[in-house]
Amino acid sequence: MKNDTVARRTFLARLAALSALAPARALALAEAPRCVTTGEDIEGPYFLPNAPRRTSLIEPGVSGTPLELEATIRDSRCVALANARVELWQCDARGRYDSAGSRLRATIETDARGRFSLRTIVPGRYLNGATYRPAHIHCKIHGPRGVLTTQIYFEGDPYNANDPWYRRERAVSLIHRRDGFTARFDAVVPR
Ligand SMILES: [Fe+2]
Repeated sequence: MKNDTVARRTFLARLAALSALAPARALALAEAPRCVTTGEDIEGPYFLPNAPRRTSLIEPGVSGTPLELEATIRDSRCVALANARVELWQCDARGRYDSAGSRLRATIETDARGRFSLRTIVPGRYLNGATYRPAHIHCKIHGPRGVLTTQIYFEGDPYNANDPWYRRERAVSLIHRRDGFTARFDAVVPR
């Protein structure tokens, strides 16, 4: 009987300790920052690996409306993803991909604060079946849990509405700047 009483007291003491801890643990979990992971999108048929490392896609033969894409990559704990490899590819202003070379393709690494910027042009649109796909830039972000393949869209594109892959949360707004536009893209990869 005595042993039973001791065991019961020990059990109750442990239960009390757990009860006291539980709210603090719940609070800590609730307060931990959480960033919503960016949705994936199709790779499409035009990806090529090993694009050159560069921060500008403006070169002879590339013409169109200049676009400065400024991006920040974080993980799902909202921590900036430093030195992450990002591959970007897009079509030209007339909707054509360079499938033989590396025009309008780049590999970029984020800086210590998870940022990168890319000088490019506003992509054109191309026919997909009977209708045009809205303007978009493809990207692959190499994160701690693998590669996130997605696409960046543009607010106000008339072809967004009927595109099966378009998502509003991945549409950036084009802001006039000097001779072209600037746009901000913030992505979150799983941690
Ligand atoms: Fe595409």
